[in-house]
Amino acid sequence: MAIQLTINGKTQSVDVPPNMPLLWVLRDTLGMTGTKFGCGMALCGACTVHIDGEATRSCITPVSSVSGKKITTIEGLSPDRSHPVQRAWIEVDVPQCGYCQSGQIMSAASLLAKNAKPSDAEIDDAMKGNICRCGTYQRIREAVHRAASLHTASAAPSGVGGREAAAEALDERPVPVGGAA
Ligand code: FES
Ligand code: FES
Repeated sequence: MAIQLTINGKTQSVDVPPNMPLLWVLRDTLGMTGTKFGCGMALCGACTVHIDGEATRSCITPVSSVSGKKITTIEGLSPDRSHPVQRAWIEVDVPQCGYCQSGQIMSAASLLAKNAKPSDAEIDDAMKGNICRCGTYQRIREAVHRAASLHTASAAPSGVGGREAAAEALDERPVPVGGAA
């Protein structure tokens, strides 16, 4: 079944079953592997993308439900490493193995789009669904605060674009768990 999707500003048609999870379509049909598979059950946050700006678990999102909506993946967060969250993540050197980090970045970007200066408690609440088995939580919190200060200065939106710095940086790191990067 042909389904129209608008991903990172580009509208395209995919011929997949309507109940296929969006994550499958991104990774397996479109080859967009920046978004990760962790649990497949909305428990870890590795698969987080934005649907109309809302952080959403793509592993449990039927692709047919997002036709006509604006889908933003880690690849589309910014065209040139300019998104405040990407800049902050690089400055703070947040990732360890990197596997969870595209999901962390997408959740942080969604948080900052709604709350330009979150408290520690608000950060912890917004990010609690994103699991990091390397335990980078302290650096994540620090980077969200740093991104908030950068965000205030640049006010870069979650938008369209090409390859992003953070995903590139993360792709240089080893992937510790089964499955493709
Ligand atoms: S893979 Fe989607 S929440 Fe874990
Ligand atoms: S950096 Fe989060 S799981 Fe390794």
